[in-house]
Amino acid sequence: MIELGVNIDHVATIRQARKTFEPDPVWAAVQAELGGADGITVHLREDRRHINDRDVRILRQTVTAKLNLEMACEPSIVAIALDVKPDQATLVPERREEITTEGGLNVRAGIKSITDVVRRLQDAGIATSLFLDPDSEQVKAGIETGCQAIELHTGSYALAKTVTERETELSKLAAASSLIVDAGLRLHAGHGLTYHNVLPIASINQMRELNIGHSIIARSIMVGLKDAVAEMKRLL
Ligand code: PXP
Repeated sequence: MIELGVNIDHVATIRQARKTFEPDPVWAAVQAELGGADGITVHLREDRRHINDRDVRILRQTVTAKLNLEMACEPSIVAIALDVKPDQATLVPERREEITTEGGLNVRAGIKSITDVVRRLQDAGIATSLFLDPDSEQVKAGIETGCQAIELHTGSYALAKTVTERETELSKLAAASSLIVDAGLRLHAGHGLTYHNVLPIASINQMRELNIGHSIIARSIMVGLKDAVAEMKRLL
């Protein structure tokens, strides 16, 4: 079975557009779970542009599925993670000006500090995943950190314009997936996945978890979040 992690950051983005109390991501998490979500994913950004500390703390108490916290390796965010103890932490790079996470972590460049954060999170009982581009050097470095999972960045696959480009991206993802699975790690993927492009990714051997946000939340505006999640779950 492939676990579906529903990223609900966009719900908080709408709330922050008016700096009010609604829609509350906590309500969204309930609907997503009712629709069959196996996990709830939120990104606590340093600038708190959508999800805030209060959301993470309340979600920790209300989510009965897996709570996956996307986070940068920043000391203040690591301290919150160690205190809140999500079930899983996914380490991502973060740039203030970006609209969304643009690329995978550069583990090669930051292996010492990333390994240290992985160890501290895992010592606290938090399963740790690294968000990486499907690049063999990055994946090999990721495996060296001792993390339990690697989430492959499917953004380039999702943006591919031609069949050839798409096939090229899929073969990079397949090769990186084999390295991850052969090392005994959990294989995750996400970013830019939609109802139309998810199946080839879900079909990669040993895929364990997909994290999907934008497409599900966009559809939920039309059909409701519970049904939008159930529809994606049926596809997987
Ligand atoms: N996985 C990671 C690590 C992400 O940063 C994001 C975006 O927040 C997603 C998955 C979900 O991407 P999308 O919103 O494009 O489905």
